[in-house]
Amino acid sequence: MPERVVTNDDLSKLMDTSDAWITERTGIKERRFFDPDKDTVAGMAANASRLALERAGLTTSDVDFIVFATITPDYFFPGSGVLMQRELGLEGIGALDIRNACSGFIYGISVADQFIKTGMYKTVLVVGAEIQSSAMDLSDRGRAVSVIFGDGAGAVVLQADSQPGILSTHLHADGRYAEELYIKDPGSSRKNRLTKDMIDEDGVRAYMNGNMVFKHAIVRFQEVIMEALEANQLAKEDIDLLIPHQANLRISHYLQEQLGLSDEKVYNNIMRYGNTTAASIPIAMSEAWQEGKISEGTLLCMAAFGSGFTWASALVQF
Ligand SMILES: CC(C)(COP(=O)(O)OP(=O)(O)OC[C@H]1O[C@@H](n2cnc3c(N)ncnc32)[C@H](O)[C@@H]1OP(=O)(O)O)[C@@H](O)C(=O)NCCC(=O)NCCS
Repeated sequence: MPERVVTNDDLSKLMDTSDAWITERTGIKERRFFDPDKDTVAGMAANASRLALERAGLTTSDVDFIVFATITPDYFFPGSGVLMQRELGLEGIGALDIRNACSGFIYGISVADQFIKTGMYKTVLVVGAEIQSSAMDLSDRGRAVSVIFGDGAGAVVLQADSQPGILSTHLHADGRYAEELYIKDPGSSRKNRLTKDMIDEDGVRAYMNGNMVFKHAIVRFQEVIMEALEANQLAKEDIDLLIPHQANLRISHYLQEQLGLSDEKVYNNIMRYGNTTAASIPIAMSEAWQEGKISEGTLLCMAAFGSGFTWASALVQF
């Protein structure tokens, strides 16, 4: 995580909002913002990858392939995967970027899983990393979006094994809602890719129809988790730990209630980091592991919903 902590009170000094409003609507108390002199999306992801490799008892030389989920790449092109590959000194191995927003990490896990199952690669780094803060309008005009998002990175190492780890992944999308949560500009299909008007009219800022996102999210999260359980002939009670994408604490609580899971079985850290899009699940997974909530035998369920709309789930047997 970047070092700079930005509390709700800090935001209240920049815009007309309050700790009470943000806490009540989202559960967020603070988030991290990157340092432009120090942090890059690829750099934060490289740090997360080193930590994941160290915890797995592996080194960078073991990695065969990189899957990098982000919607906030360091450059318009190339993607951040190659930049992280360079930082890790892994010149030559393949690096793939995934642009599926909040579901990006689970899409990434699924892609890596297929590569491993076909025998093409043995060890794959899957990362989610985002710098959202630089696209936020920290004035009254942007307050409905800017209080929610934060910066950060997380990573996992997937490796071929005789025992199944990833039991299944389930990926969905409904492009009819693409413009309900998006950044429109700069876009390639315009006469001029970037104009002053686009900047003045906020086309370069994230737009979110919060209410619509909320309504779809609570349905899709539950649906895709049930799909994962049914595909593996498992029941809700079999889940040892659920890590939902950290979109909004109210969404997580609603989901927990619908599934009838106890507090210990649902991991949330949105209070400390806000919504970090593709990075939220691997960051939460890392912290849950550190706290001893993931160990040998744990059945972990991950689920996400976000821009696209896209939604996805994965069941992992540790
Ligand atoms: C964004 C979200 C928290 C907004 O909550 P909401 O209850 O729908 O709030 P509304 O947008 O209806 O706004 C309610 C009022 O609060 C105001 N408001 C918006 N942002 C505010 C802020 N940061 N501080 C104070 N007031 C704010 C609005 O202007 C509105 O005022 P009005 O009633 O005078 O018009 C909520 O819609 C949400 O969580 N959506 C899902 C978002 C999400 O998960 N996104 C990530 C997808 S992965």
